[in-house]
Amino acid sequence: MASANAKEVMPVVEAKGARIPLLGLGTWDLRGRTCARVVEQALRLGYRHVDTAEMYDNEREVGEGVRASGRKRSELFVTTKIWPSHFAPRELERAARDCLVRLRLSEVDLLLLHWPNPQIPLADTLGALAKVKREGLTRHIGVSNFTVALIEQAMAAPGEPLVCNQVECHPFLDQSKVIAACRRHDMAVVAYSPIARGGAKNNDVLARIGKARSKSAAQVSLRFLVQQNIVVIPRTSKVERLTENAAIFDFTLTDAEMAEIAALAHPGGRVVDFAFSGRPQWD
Ligand SMILES: NC(=O)c1ccc[n+]([C@@H]2O[C@H](COP(=O)([O-])OP(=O)(O)OC[C@H]3O[C@@H](n4cnc5c(N)ncnc54)[C@H](OP(=O)(O)O)[C@@H]3O)[C@@H](O)[C@H]2O)c1
Repeated sequence: MASANAKEVMPVVEAKGARIPLLGLGTWDLRGRTCARVVEQALRLGYRHVDTAEMYDNEREVGEGVRASGRKRSELFVTTKIWPSHFAPRELERAARDCLVRLRLSEVDLLLLHWPNPQIPLADTLGALAKVKREGLTRHIGVSNFTVALIEQAMAAPGEPLVCNQVECHPFLDQSKVIAACRRHDMAVVAYSPIARGGAKNNDVLARIGKARSKSAAQVSLRFLVQQNIVVIPRTSKVERLTENAAIFDFTLTDAEMAEIAALAHPGGRVVDFAFSGRPQWD
């Protein structure tokens, strides 16, 4: 894998024609001026990829940060996501257009289905997603929170290529099956909550491994993922942590360290409730 810090060339993961910067800024729960300021600063520091969603209620501020950064649009990779209640084909197209209005962009780089919705046939939703891509609202399309079974179902449906699956992924959660399914289908894996919502910073193993290289436990958590070619989108509301979270391309973990970190995974390791009640469930 190419090595670079955020000020130099940002490494990318390639999947089905998409080139996704390996590091992005997560923006869930960033609001108002804080959101616009953090996005602007991240892009000034060398981040090239920002992750938002219609559900985060911050697309306006993400767009403001993008414009304030002074970066050329062509240098940036902007992802947004459609919420499952908008998966009926006409709704999806309207929702995608609304995202662009809020972001004040003519297209996004990646448009994702945020969570599966069992109430609407997947093939219909994927057909609508492919249509908005063909209409130029997004350069690439993909999914999020898809299980192995759903990935297989999506691959069997006609449509445009799905370039990624965005899933919870960090040292405390074993996602090897879903990662293997993504790799089988040439989909990038994008890790959300890559520092376990801050939980990684308190872990003794990550802290010990980091200490030997003057790196923090959070940086080791991120490095563990990017070293597997998994895209990471850590979120922070603090500008000083933007630099910390980007300084993950100037060291390498040994195979033994990678194995030791992988062994931290355990059944209760999820930090995002995969079954919260407001969201449609599969079964
Ligand atoms: N597709 C989906 O369903 C889905 C679900 C969840 C998240 N996401 C996306 O993934 C992004 C990242 O996930 P996340 O926000 O859940 O969790 P995360 O990035 O793993 O963790 C964010 C938390 O960690 C803290 N933090 C950040 N950098 C740190 C550092 N270097 N040391 C110590 N603590 C640090 C932040 O606090 P401070 O703000 O105080 O720094 C914040 O509380 C989201 O923002 C969102 O864009 C997608």
